[in-house]
Amino acid sequence: MELNNCIKQRRSIRKYAPCQIDKATIEEIVMAGQLAPSWKNSQTPRYYAVISEEGKEKLRSLLASFNMERTNGAGAFIVTTVQKGLSGCDSEGKYFSHLKNGFECFDNGLAAQNMLLKAYELGYGSLIMGLYDEKAIREYLSVPENEDIVVVIALGKRDICPDMPERKDINEVLKVF
Ligand SMILES: Cc1cc2nc3c(=O)[nH]c(=O)nc-3n(C[C@H](O)[C@H](O)[C@H](O)COP(=O)(O)O)c2cc1C
Repeated sequence: MELNNCIKQRRSIRKYAPCQIDKATIEEIVMAGQLAPSWKNSQTPRYYAVISEEGKEKLRSLLASFNMERTNGAGAFIVTTVQKGLSGCDSEGKYFSHLKNGFECFDNGLAAQNMLLKAYELGYGSLIMGLYDEKAIREYLSVPENEDIVVVIALGKRDICPDMPERKDINEVLKVF
Protein backbone atom coordinates (compact mmCIF):
# COMPACT_ATOMS: atom_id res chain seq x y z
CA MET A 1 0.00 0.00 0.00
CA GLU A 2 1.27 3.44 -0.86
CA LEU A 3 2.55 5.24 2.26
CA ASN A 4 0.63 8.43 1.52
CA ASN A 5 -2.67 6.51 1.33
CA CYS A 6 -1.85 4.72 4.55
CA ILE A 7 -1.12 8.02 6.34
CA LYS A 8 -4.25 9.69 4.95
CA GLN A 9 -6.73 6.86 5.32
CA ARG A 10 -5.83 5.47 8.77
CA ARG A 11 -8.54 6.45 11.27
CA SER A 12 -9.20 5.83 14.91
CA ILE A 13 -11.76 3.02 14.89
CA ARG A 14 -14.36 2.91 17.65
CA LYS A 15 -16.55 0.05 16.36
CA TYR A 16 -15.20 -3.41 15.55
CA ALA A 17 -16.55 -6.54 13.88
CA PRO A 18 -15.44 -9.54 15.96
CA CYS A 19 -12.13 -11.05 14.84
CA GLN A 20 -9.06 -12.77 16.14
CA ILE A 21 -5.49 -11.66 15.53
CA ASP A 22 -2.73 -14.24 15.83
CA LYS A 23 0.75 -14.02 17.31
CA ALA A 24 2.47 -13.87 13.90
CA THR A 25 0.44 -10.79 12.97
CA ILE A 26 1.21 -9.17 16.31
CA GLU A 27 4.91 -9.81 15.71
CA GLU A 28 4.70 -8.18 12.28
CA ILE A 29 3.01 -5.11 13.74
CA VAL A 30 5.40 -4.83 16.71
CA MET A 31 8.37 -5.25 14.36
CA ALA A 32 7.18 -2.14 12.52
CA GLY A 33 7.27 -0.37 15.90
CA GLN A 34 10.76 -1.67 16.51
CA LEU A 35 11.92 -0.11 13.22
CA ALA A 36 11.06 3.41 14.45
CA PRO A 37 13.82 5.80 15.47
CA SER A 38 14.62 6.09 19.18
CA TRP A 39 16.96 8.12 21.38
CA LYS A 40 20.49 6.80 20.67
CA ASN A 41 18.78 3.69 19.34
CA SER A 42 17.91 2.87 22.96
CA GLN A 43 14.73 1.02 21.87
CA THR A 44 13.04 1.62 25.18
CA PRO A 45 9.43 0.87 24.16
CA ARG A 46 8.11 -2.49 25.35
CA TYR A 47 4.95 -4.21 24.17
CA TYR A 48 2.43 -6.42 25.97
CA ALA A 49 0.08 -8.08 23.51
CA VAL A 50 -3.21 -9.62 24.58
CA ILE A 51 -4.84 -11.95 22.03
CA SER A 52 -6.79 -14.56 24.02
CA GLU A 53 -10.55 -14.06 24.39
CA GLU A 54 -10.30 -14.20 28.17
CA GLY A 55 -7.35 -11.79 28.22
CA LYS A 56 -9.07 -9.30 25.94
CA GLU A 57 -12.21 -9.26 28.10
CA LYS A 58 -10.09 -8.72 31.20
CA LEU A 59 -8.05 -5.94 29.61
CA ARG A 60 -11.14 -4.19 28.27
CA SER A 61 -12.57 -4.15 31.77
CA LEU A 62 -9.51 -2.12 32.84
CA LEU A 63 -10.08 0.61 30.24
CA ALA A 64 -12.10 3.78 30.77
CA SER A 65 -15.73 2.68 30.34
CA PHE A 66 -16.18 4.54 27.03
CA ASN A 67 -13.04 2.85 25.69
CA MET A 68 -14.32 -0.52 26.87
CA GLU A 69 -17.51 0.00 24.86
CA ARG A 70 -15.61 1.20 21.80
CA THR A 71 -13.35 -1.86 21.66
CA ASN A 72 -15.92 -4.65 21.87
CA GLY A 73 -14.94 -7.27 19.27
CA ALA A 74 -11.36 -6.04 18.84
CA GLY A 75 -8.97 -8.80 17.78
CA ALA A 76 -6.04 -7.83 19.98
CA PHE A 77 -4.64 -5.21 22.30
CA ILE A 78 -1.08 -3.98 22.57
CA VAL A 79 -0.13 -2.16 25.75
CA THR A 80 2.96 -0.05 25.11
CA THR A 81 5.37 0.90 27.85
CA VAL A 82 8.67 2.69 28.00
CA GLN A 83 11.71 1.80 30.05
CA LYS A 84 12.41 4.77 32.30
CA GLY A 85 15.63 6.74 32.63
CA LEU A 86 17.26 5.76 29.34
CA SER A 87 15.99 8.24 26.71
CA GLY A 88 17.25 11.82 26.85
CA CYS A 89 19.68 11.30 29.73
CA ASP A 90 23.15 10.01 30.49
CA SER A 91 24.00 6.88 32.47
CA GLU A 92 23.70 8.83 35.74
CA GLY A 93 20.20 9.98 34.85
CA LYS A 94 21.18 13.59 33.99
CA TYR A 95 18.89 14.98 31.30
CA PHE A 96 20.41 16.53 28.20
CA SER A 97 17.52 18.82 27.23
CA HIS A 98 14.66 20.95 28.54
CA LEU A 99 12.29 18.12 27.64
CA LYS A 100 13.78 16.03 30.43
CA ASN A 101 12.17 12.58 30.15
CA GLY A 102 9.84 13.74 27.34
CA PHE A 103 11.84 11.77 24.80
CA GLU A 104 10.66 8.55 26.45
CA CYS A 105 7.10 9.14 25.30
CA PHE A 106 8.41 10.58 22.03
CA ASP A 107 10.14 7.26 21.27
CA ASN A 108 6.99 5.42 22.24
CA GLY A 109 4.84 7.59 19.98
CA LEU A 110 7.06 7.03 16.97
CA ALA A 111 6.82 3.29 17.50
CA ALA A 112 3.05 3.50 18.00
CA GLN A 113 2.46 5.36 14.74
CA ASN A 114 4.54 2.83 12.82
CA MET A 115 2.38 0.08 14.32
CA LEU A 116 -0.89 1.83 13.41
CA LEU A 117 0.26 2.27 9.81
CA LYS A 118 1.43 -1.33 9.57
CA ALA A 119 -1.86 -2.54 11.02
CA TYR A 120 -3.74 -0.45 8.45
CA GLU A 121 -1.65 -1.91 5.64
CA LEU A 122 -2.55 -5.39 6.90
CA GLY A 123 -6.26 -4.49 6.83
CA TYR A 124 -6.81 -3.74 10.52
CA GLY A 125 -8.30 -0.72 12.19
CA SER A 126 -6.83 0.60 15.41
CA LEU A 127 -7.50 2.83 18.36
CA ILE A 128 -4.93 4.42 20.64
CA MET A 129 -6.28 4.80 24.17
CA GLY A 130 -4.71 6.99 26.82
CA LEU A 131 -7.33 6.46 29.52
CA TYR A 132 -7.24 3.25 31.54
CA ASP A 133 -6.65 1.92 35.05
CA GLU A 134 -2.86 2.12 35.14
CA LYS A 135 -2.38 0.26 38.40
CA ALA A 136 -4.69 -2.60 37.42
CA ILE A 137 -3.10 -3.05 33.97
CA ARG A 138 0.38 -2.98 35.52
CA GLU A 139 -0.63 -5.73 37.90
CA TYR A 140 -2.49 -7.81 35.31
CA LEU A 141 0.41 -7.81 32.81
CA SER A 142 3.19 -7.83 35.45
CA VAL A 143 4.69 -4.64 34.06
CA PRO A 144 7.85 -3.95 36.10
CA GLU A 145 8.34 -0.70 38.01
CA ASN A 146 11.14 0.47 35.69
CA GLU A 147 8.58 0.84 32.88
CA ASP A 148 5.85 3.44 32.45
CA ILE A 149 2.68 2.34 30.70
CA VAL A 150 1.95 4.79 27.87
CA VAL A 151 -1.01 3.73 25.72
CA VAL A 152 -3.25 0.77 25.02
CA ILE A 153 -3.78 0.09 21.31
CA ALA A 154 -6.82 -1.85 20.12
CA LEU A 155 -6.55 -3.66 16.77
CA GLY A 156 -9.35 -5.27 14.82
CA LYS A 157 -11.68 -5.43 11.86
CA ARG A 158 -13.30 -2.06 11.16
CA ASP A 159 -17.08 -2.07 11.47
CA ILE A 160 -17.26 1.59 10.54
CA CYS A 161 -15.40 3.90 8.15
CA PRO A 162 -15.29 7.27 9.88
CA ASP A 163 -14.54 10.50 8.06
CA MET A 164 -11.30 12.17 8.97
CA PRO A 165 -11.78 14.55 11.90
CA GLU A 166 -11.03 18.03 10.60
CA ARG A 167 -7.37 19.05 10.63
CA LYS A 168 -6.18 22.59 11.23
CA ASP A 169 -5.10 24.58 8.20
CA ILE A 170 -1.42 24.26 7.35
CA ASN A 171 -0.97 28.02 7.90
CA GLU A 172 -2.16 27.65 11.48
CA VAL A 173 0.40 25.03 12.41
CA LEU A 174 3.39 25.83 10.18
CA LYS A 175 5.80 28.74 10.23
CA VAL A 176 8.46 28.75 7.54
CA PHE A 177 11.51 31.00 7.94
C1 LIG B 1 -2.09 9.82 23.08
C2 LIG B 1 -3.47 9.58 22.51
C3 LIG B 1 -4.48 9.14 23.36
C4 LIG B 1 -5.77 8.88 22.85
N1 LIG B 1 -6.73 8.39 23.70
C5 LIG B 1 -7.93 8.07 23.18
C6 LIG B 1 -8.92 7.45 24.02
O1 LIG B 1 -8.70 7.22 25.22
N2 LIG B 1 -10.10 7.11 23.46
C7 LIG B 1 -10.39 7.35 22.13
O2 LIG B 1 -11.48 7.01 21.67
N3 LIG B 1 -9.48 7.94 21.33
C8 LIG B 1 -8.25 8.29 21.81
N4 LIG B 1 -7.30 8.82 20.98
C9 LIG B 1 -7.59 8.99 19.53
C10 LIG B 1 -7.73 10.46 19.10
O3 LIG B 1 -8.93 10.97 19.62
C11 LIG B 1 -7.68 10.53 17.57
O4 LIG B 1 -6.41 10.14 17.12
C12 LIG B 1 -8.00 11.93 17.02
O5 LIG B 1 -9.33 12.30 17.30
C13 LIG B 1 -7.78 12.02 15.51
O6 LIG B 1 -8.56 11.06 14.80
P1 LIG B 1 -7.86 10.01 13.82
O7 LIG B 1 -6.98 9.13 14.68
O8 LIG B 1 -8.97 9.24 13.19
O9 LIG B 1 -7.05 10.75 12.82
C14 LIG B 1 -6.02 9.08 21.47
C15 LIG B 1 -4.99 9.51 20.63
C16 LIG B 1 -3.72 9.74 21.13
C17 LIG B 1 -2.61 10.14 20.18
